[in-house]
Amino acid sequence: MSSMKRTLIVGNWKMHLNVQEASLLVRRLHQHIPTHRSVEVVLAPSMLCLQPVSMEIDRHKFRLSAQNAYHRDDGAFTGEVSFTMLRELVHYSIIGHSERRIYFGETLEIVRDKVSAAVRNGIAPIICVGDTAAERANHESKKVVHDQVVSALHGLTSQEIDDVVIAYEPIWAISTFGGEVARPEDMQAMLVYIRQVVADLFGKQAAEELRLLYGGSVNQDTAHSYLELPDCNGALVGSASLNYQQFANIVAAGYQANYEKQE
Ligand code: 13P
Repeated sequence: MSSMKRTLIVGNWKMHLNVQEASLLVRRLHQHIPTHRSVEVVLAPSMLCLQPVSMEIDRHKFRLSAQNAYHRDDGAFTGEVSFTMLRELVHYSIIGHSERRIYFGETLEIVRDKVSAAVRNGIAPIICVGDTAAERANHESKKVVHDQVVSALHGLTSQEIDDVVIAYEPIWAISTFGGEVARPEDMQAMLVYIRQVVADLFGKQAAEELRLLYGGSVNQDTAHSYLELPDCNGALVGSASLNYQQFANIVAAGYQANYEKQE
């Protein structure tokens, strides 16, 4: 079903690396990551580094993603950058990351407006959804994720859904550094659930074609256990994407898992 899709590995550099450090990492990634037809590798540097990184990457090997942008196309919005300004620069934008929802007060409505602005500007949104530890303890995970998915996709046409990527990132499993990690079988269940929510909104075919990512403390040791899940089409990687060896091994795990699914 989802086996023929390219696996998508996204490195979210968050607020790390200045221009020089980013350039060094890009050089290392070029050296250590081969081009795989079955794996799409996306880098999401800070806003500051997008332009210089765009000049340095081999576009057959890497695509770029923003980590965020503003939903209005232009105007008097001091300090913001719009999706319109990014349209020649990036293929993707991460939208609604839990850190933006939590630290920057991004509501369901703001996330929805950003998804619609990205799509309007020809940028594919990587929509992040996820439950907190408290919501999980209260058995509210599905409801929370349901509402995040439904509201983020609100107003999209069945054609626009084709470019959308959804990343499930349980907040309790992000950057735990040896603490709690998500069990792959639980992640599979949530990915199936998200696909079902999308099927209810846009039909079975759109849901089957949708690429679903897992994110939360993915590293070179755990990547394959998530990427081999039948409904997992890739990974959204934070900390481990700053280490070229880790990230190269995660891309290799994506290649391996994709190959195994084709068999
Ligand atoms: P970590 O891989 O550091 O847990 O971060 C996950 C994440 O938030 C990616 O967007």
